[in-house]
Amino acid sequence: MSTLDIVGLCGSLRNASVNRAALNLAGSLMPASMQLDVVEWREVPSFDADVFAKGYPAPVQALRERIARADGIVIATPEYNFSIPGAFKNVIDWLSRGEDQPFAHKPVALLSASPGPLGGARVQYDMRRVMLFVNAMVLVKPEVFIGGAGGKFDADGNCTDETTRKFVGDQMKAFEKWIGAVKRMA
Ligand code: FNR
Repeated sequence: MSTLDIVGLCGSLRNASVNRAALNLAGSLMPASMQLDVVEWREVPSFDADVFAKGYPAPVQALRERIARADGIVIATPEYNFSIPGAFKNVIDWLSRGEDQPFAHKPVALLSASPGPLGGARVQYDMRRVMLFVNAMVLVKPEVFIGGAGGKFDADGNCTDETTRKFVGDQMKAFEKWIGAVKRMA
């Protein structure tokens, strides 16, 4: 069985991010066929069409290539003001450019975590809308919203909540099947 190469994108830059912890949890609960590599995007500059006219900045080009060769993407993002964090949206905007943009037909799974009760429910629907524009193949269900996230991860980012572990594990099993289904459709 060949390994499925999964890129992880975290919408937060924060070291102690609960979304990073959720992404790591997804990586630890993935079926044996899947391997998660969380990639960084801190160096991506603000989108500027005049800069783009001269080519992709190096950090953008590196991300484009990394995502293009992945079998799937797991995105865990916080909700900022009921939507996608601006810095992260900027990364997606860069990645969305060009006929060969790397999200096209790429299986994507979405998670969000928040100290609030809804677990970032609203940001996920904005993410789904953006992923629609870039022709990504977003897993429909199970959805994972980790509400009250502050109490579900310890200081080292380990998930202490069995229900959350079950939801995330089930989503990763479904994602493995979804990647297979998308590959068969191609
Ligand atoms: C937030 N937060 C937040 N939470 C939420 O559930 N809905 C929201 O709309 C917002 N809005 C918001 C805006 C801004 C600018 C900040 C900085 C924060 C709180 C947010 O969920 C919390 O800070 C998370 O811990 C951020 O995620 P990470 O960094 O822990 O992954």
